Amino acid sequence: MGYRGAPPLDPARGRGGPRPGRGLGSGLNLRLYETRAARVIAVEPSPGLGRMASRRMAEARVPVDWVRGAGEAIPLSDGSVDTAVLTWTLCSVADPAGSLAEVRRVLKARGRLLFVEHGRAPDAAVRRWQERLTPHWRRFSGNCHLDRPIEALIRDAGFTVAELQAEYIGLPKFMTYFYRGIAAPAAAAPTSP
Ligand SMILES: C[S@@+](CC[C@H](N)C(=O)[O-])C[C@H]1O[C@@H](n2cnc3c(N)ncnc32)[C@H](O)[C@@H]1O
Repeated sequence: MGYRGAPPLDPARGRGGPRPGRGLGSGLNLRLYETRAARVIAVEPSPGLGRMASRRMAEARVPVDWVRGAGEAIPLSDGSVDTAVLTWTLCSVADPAGSLAEVRRVLKARGRLLFVEHGRAPDAAVRRWQERLTPHWRRFSGNCHLDRPIEALIRDAGFTVAELQAEYIGLPKFMTYFYRGIAAPAAAAPTSP
């Protein structure tokens, strides 16, 4: 899917250590990672897309490790990652809540999640189209859902959304409501003595 009109993601805003990018795709985003990232760990289940990305991995300014696997079971230990990056992936994963729980698990307590996603629109008429079209659209678009409530999914997974820009970035409205922002693991509630 082409989203060339989207505002650019700025992975440089995250911290310097390892960053898992989820849904590597064809690796278009890799050129955006600057040398402040120690390494990028890209979780991508599709062997075809992983192969397509190999040239861009080799040309990236930071070392990139492609981990072939699903975002619902990230093969990294708890609290091992500084910054997680999700771009146009929550629409397609089989289990968005499970995937976000995994991001939450692997992030350090002071880590950051940077995201650019499309999803549920605020207007009832647009939402009705999103709901009508999604069962058909997802069949030929790699399971892409038009109507996922991105902000709510992120908050429900235990994140605080620190910055959010949510807006239509073009037409048709049912596929161009974009969520771009930064989230952080919500502080755990203190346990009673
Ligand atoms: C629309 S593409 C976006 C690719 C890339 N992130 C980008 O911004 O160009 C969606 C990506 O999500 C990946 N994907 C689908 N299901 C996934 C899962 N369960 N775990 C991780 N990635 C998944 C797809 O293989 C595809 O690379």
